[in-house]
Amino acid sequence: MPQHTPSRQILTLDAGSDAVGPGPDPRWSTWPSVAKGLRGPEPRPAWVVTAAAALDTELGVLKTGKEADVFLVERAVPDDPSRSVLLAAKRYRDTEHRQFHRADTYTAGRRERRSRDQRAAADRHSAWGRSVRATQWADAEFATLCALWEAGAAVPYPVQIDGTELLLEFVGHVADDGAAVAAPRLAQTRPAPELLADWFSQLRTAMGVLARLGWAHGDLSPYNVLADGERLVVIDLPQVVDLVANPFGADLLHRDCRNICAWFSSRGLEVDADELFAEVFAQAW
Ligand SMILES: Nc1ncnc2c1ncn2[C@@H]1O[C@H](COP(=O)(O)OP(=O)(O)OP(=O)(O)O)[C@@H](O)[C@H]1O
Ligand SMILES: [Mg+2]
Repeated sequence: MPQHTPSRQILTLDAGSDAVGPGPDPRWSTWPSVAKGLRGPEPRPAWVVTAAAALDTELGVLKTGKEADVFLVERAVPDDPSRSVLLAAKRYRDTEHRQFHRADTYTAGRRERRSRDQRAAADRHSAWGRSVRATQWADAEFATLCALWEAGAAVPYPVQIDGTELLLEFVGHVADDGAAVAAPRLAQTRPAPELLADWFSQLRTAMGVLARLGWAHGDLSPYNVLADGERLVVIDLPQVVDLVANPFGADLLHRDCRNICAWFSSRGLEVDADELFAEVFAQAW
């Protein structure tokens, strides 16, 4: 393995995080070993590093979550700064190591492709069943991100999926001193009135794209939206719900609307959750 010193240090670590720190030495990029169908949609953004000579270096933890941990990874060709990119690696825990278990409400009406895996997933006592379930959430999030990205929604570009690990476009920026700065969650921001109104309109648009694909986010809140400068990016999409097939679909969309409108109202923008719901729901048909 060649020597490689990452060009960047992570700046914004999750305060109080108890997850492991920076990982082992760089490993070879996992890109070449990931099957074509498990890579993100084409045309691929120019920044995606596909060189077999690239190395993946773990720079730290972005956030430990209830069901997954998100790490900052640099994928770079040594000595070639033009081929270096930061990625967010979202790693699902197997269900035994989660602090949160999603209700079956989300998957009602969803069809699994492989009935063998479905039977395994239903077996709450088998290790295989637990790992199949972890993979299913990762698979679901990757497929959703691909569809949304292709439909033009503001979501992180999904670079690849490898088992329970998703590699995503890092939402944030690199500061002048070279440090990586993750975009804040919407909940942490206090935008001026004009930007606040613009952000609401961006979210309406994003919810409309989801609805036209027949989906509601299902866990939309100011914690699952990142503020990348003036642009909002919607994240955390393993649980999208089918508005037509899922009997709870409309209720979950309504809850998304209430969560979002409550935050915008608390920041001073007059918005109405029922109006937003009506407007978004109508686009599902
Ligand atoms: N692509 C990304 N770029 C930058 N930061 C990200 C990205 N994806 C996730 N994060 C950070 O990691 C956090 C957790 O991600 P996400 O919400 O997808 O996972 P989660 O397991 O549902 O976490 P939680 O339980 O906190 O909701 C986000 O709030 C955000 O701060
Ligand atoms: Mg989240």
